Amino acid sequence: MNDMNFSTRIIGADFEKPDAHGALALPVYRNAAFEFADSEAIAAAFRGETGEHTYSRISNPSVTNFEQKVRAASGAESVVALSSGMAAITNTFFAIASAGSNIVSSPHLFGNTFSFFRSTLAAFGVEVRFVDTDDPAQIVAAIDENTCAFFAELITNPHLELADLPAISKILRAKGVPMIIDTTLVPWCAFDAKKAGVDVEVVSTTKYISGGATSTGGVIVDYGTFDWTKNRRLAAMSEPPAGVSRFAHKLRTEIVRNLGAVMTPDTAYMHALGMETLDVRYRRMSATAHELARHFVEHPKITRVNYPALKTTPYKTLSDILFSGDPGAMFTVELGSKADCFRFMNALKVFRRATNLFDNKSLVIHPESTIYATFTPEMKRTAGIEESLIRFSAGIEAVDDLKNDIENALKTL
Ligand SMILES: Cc1ncc(COP(=O)(O)O)c(C=O)c1O
Repeated sequence: MNDMNFSTRIIGADFEKPDAHGALALPVYRNAAFEFADSEAIAAAFRGETGEHTYSRISNPSVTNFEQKVRAASGAESVVALSSGMAAITNTFFAIASAGSNIVSSPHLFGNTFSFFRSTLAAFGVEVRFVDTDDPAQIVAAIDENTCAFFAELITNPHLELADLPAISKILRAKGVPMIIDTTLVPWCAFDAKKAGVDVEVVSTTKYISGGATSTGGVIVDYGTFDWTKNRRLAAMSEPPAGVSRFAHKLRTEIVRNLGAVMTPDTAYMHALGMETLDVRYRRMSATAHELARHFVEHPKITRVNYPALKTTPYKTLSDILFSGDPGAMFTVELGSKADCFRFMNALKVFRRATNLFDNKSLVIHPESTIYATFTPEMKRTAGIEESLIRFSAGIEAVDDLKNDIENALKTL
C-alpha cells in the first residue's frame, strides 16, 4: 500500500485485526475495558508486550484504526489521537517542556495556543520566546541550551503567513532543537511535513479531518526524525522499544494516560471516515477559496484580500513550493473598520457565522471580537490581531452562490 496514491493508501489501510463479520468500516468499540483469559495475559498486556487493548483511556481499537489511517496518510512513525487540537498541543508540550526550559515560537498563533504558552505553561516555569519567523537571525538568537522546541503554525491562523520550514529546519538541526508545527491548515494530502523538516506535527482534526465538523479531535504525529536524547527531560528515560521514539513512548505510557484527554471511539469512527474523503474535500474547498480570493482581490470596497496563492502576498512562491499551489480553504478580507465587518457579515446569507474551519458549509468570523475576545490590547498587538479583519472558510457549496453572497453583502457598505 505504501507505494500507492494518497486516498488509496488511506482507504486501503488495514484494520489491526480482521473484522469477525468482514465489515468494510471498522465497527465502533464503545466499551471502556477489555477482558483477559488469565492474570498472566492481563499482566503481559499492561507491560505492553502483546499490543492488546486493556482500557479505553490507554488505547481503543476504533481510535487505533483512525491513527493507522493517519500513519498511512503521513508516513509517520507514531500517531496519537486525542480529544481536540488543543489536547494535541498541550500533551506535546507536557511531554517535552519542564521548568526552566523555553519554546521559541511565532507569536502569530491560534488564540488558545497563544494563551496556553503565555499563561498556562508560564505558571509551570516554561518561557515562550516570540520571534519573527521571517527573520532567521531572530530564531538563532532566541535559541539557547534550554530551548526544548521551535513552534509555528503552517499556515498561521488567521494571518495566513508561511514560515520557510526547509530553511528553518537547517538552523534547528545544527542547534539540536526539534521542529514542532501545527499543520491544521494544510493536511497530508497537500503538504509533506517530513520532507520540509518537521519532526512533530500537531493537528486539530476537528477541521479538515473530521469530515464536515462532525466532532472535535486532534493528533500528534511523530516522524521519528529527532534525537530526543538532546531533550533534558527525555534524555534520562530508559531506551524505548524499537520503532518508537522517546517522545512517542513518554506520550503513550505517561502523558496521555495521566492527562486523560483521549479521543472517543465514536469520534474516531467519524474521523476515520473523514480521512477517506479528505483529499476530495480539500481540493474542492481550496479551489473555491482560490477562486473567491482571485475574484474579490481588486474589489473597490475591500481594503485587502489575503490568500497564499495570490500574487499580491509575499508568500506565494513558498506556497507554490510547499503546497503545489493549493494552500487550502481559508482566506481573509480586510474592510474599512470593525463596524463595516459586522455590517457585511450580518448581510451574508450562505456563509454561516461560526467559529470553525473547513466544515462542508462555508463559514465566516470576525476573529478580534470572538476568538481573541479575552485578550488584552497588548496580547492582541503581539498576536497580530486586527479589528478590520474577517476570516472565511470555503465549504463545498457551488462557488457562484458564494461569490454572489459576498457581492450582495458588500453592497450594504
Ligand atoms: C491552527 C489551530 N490550531 C489548533 C486549534 C485548536 O483545535 P481544537 O479546537 O480542535 O482544540 C485550532 C482551532 O481553531 C486552530 O485553528
